[in-house]
Amino acid sequence: MSVPNETEVALPGEGLSLERMPGHWLLARMGKRVLRPGGLELTRQMLEALAIRPEDALVEFAPGLGVTAQLALRYRPASYIGVERDEAAAVTVRRSLSTPQQRCIVGRAEETGLPAASATVIYGEAMLTMHTPGQKAAIIREAWRVLQPGGRYGIHELCLVPDTLDTTVKETILHDLSQAIHVGARPLTVPEWRAVLEAEGFQVQSVATAPMHLLEPRRMIQDEGLGRALRIAWNIVCNPAARRRVQAMRQVFRKHQAHLSAIALVALKSEQ
Ligand SMILES: C[S@@+](CC[C@H](N)C(=O)[O-])C[C@H]1O[C@@H](n2cnc3c(N)ncnc32)[C@H](O)[C@@H]1O
Repeated sequence: MSVPNETEVALPGEGLSLERMPGHWLLARMGKRVLRPGGLELTRQMLEALAIRPEDALVEFAPGLGVTAQLALRYRPASYIGVERDEAAAVTVRRSLSTPQQRCIVGRAEETGLPAASATVIYGEAMLTMHTPGQKAAIIREAWRVLQPGGRYGIHELCLVPDTLDTTVKETILHDLSQAIHVGARPLTVPEWRAVLEAEGFQVQSVATAPMHLLEPRRMIQDEGLGRALRIAWNIVCNPAARRRVQAMRQVFRKHQAHLSAIALVALKSEQ
């Protein structure tokens, strides 16, 4: 997969200190492209479950650096619109787009400004988790509004296990995660993820899970390729502030690994 040349593209997080920057932009600045918890394998499963066809009008919420956009475009959909709130990320995504039917707008998934019933497939990865319950509901409602009846909505997010996880343990995990990644992290259990989709009218069609191994060496190589994974490791080793941040993130992920997972769900907006 071709990746943008960082020397030519401003990366998100410009102007923020490495100490305070959201974890995903810190990783992006170290060279990481794949910023979702289940990695490319779970992304591929989500895309397969979405069954993208040449007649589909695709919308991606929060495409980040455009890695999934490139995979989704291999299905040759009729159109693609990314809705990304970070301007520098949107510029990066645009570099993967090649026709007038493919565009990336700077905007918020809660209120995309896209016409109602204008998409047949919507998906978003590693973005609902960072929102409050109210914002999650607003984003899912917006997906419902923009989708045509019969449209499919895919999500790939961070998940808590087991379903019966004690509330105090949950609170500790949310607190530790938010401290480490400097973004409010609010993952849900499998039934809770289903419930937030169903609350807005969606029918869940498929659920898949994968280990949350975002910063584990094996997953890094699977997602980024050996050369890029080595480059990322080198960049982190050479930057003490980044090294401290990445170590802190990895420590929290490992501390709570028994209770963290990645989940991909595909849901349907029914015809009636
Ligand atoms: C962890 S990154 C994930 C990026 C990409 N989806 C991936 O999985 O590699 C989170 C992304 O969500 C974007 N984002 C967060 N909230 C958003 C919102 N309400 N609307 C649009 N984009 C949003 C951020 O700018 C960032 O690109």
